[in-house]
Amino acid sequence: MYRYIAWFQRNYPSLHGKMTLCNHNFDHRDLNPYHLESDCWSHTMMVCKIAELNGYDKIVSIAALLHDIGKPDARRVNPRNNHVQFFGHENISAKIAEEVLSSMAKEGMIESREKDEIVKLIVHHSFLHRGLETTRLLDSFGGEIDFCIRLVELSRCDNLGRFCEDTVDDAKYREILEALHSRRQMEIFRISETGHSMNDSECILDTFRNG
Ligand SMILES: [Fe+2]
Repeated sequence: MYRYIAWFQRNYPSLHGKMTLCNHNFDHRDLNPYHLESDCWSHTMMVCKIAELNGYDKIVSIAALLHDIGKPDARRVNPRNNHVQFFGHENISAKIAEEVLSSMAKEGMIESREKDEIVKLIVHHSFLHRGLETTRLLDSFGGEIDFCIRLVELSRCDNLGRFCEDTVDDAKYREILEALHSRRQMEIFRISETGHSMNDSECILDTFRNG
């Protein structure tokens, strides 16, 4: 993690600077109840630390570092109530991240397959805000278990890496991760038994059949 953060700070000082100046809150009276830590860089560092403490892989670690990089460009203040909003920051972040990731790829830090997955994780990093549910998650991403596991890991880091009035209970994230890991184990077992993998609908049907 240290290597990626240091590399980013050295190579993208202006993006780093924008993150440090971009507050989640309006001012000291109008605080943001979802991000009491205030600026986007502090939040990012907290998210990265959670990824590091959990030993999450390179793909999740770099996604954690870049997931909110578009917030300074997305930042808007609602003049009616001084609430700071970041609508659409996921896609803006992904677009900026693509450029950063291309430099990383050029320097041999990541492969192009990893770059694509990091971009996809950033685009969808708010997906689980709409509910933590294993089948819906797998259905939405074509049964790609490894991608879904990484998306939950990133979302978990994003949830824990902040001071929030209403943090989602971390047990829910651990629960869904456990379910995905056991699905993955089942799939590996099945491939070794039958020599072929099932698609997601077959997996779901099979889970229902077996209770
Ligand atoms: Fe975030």
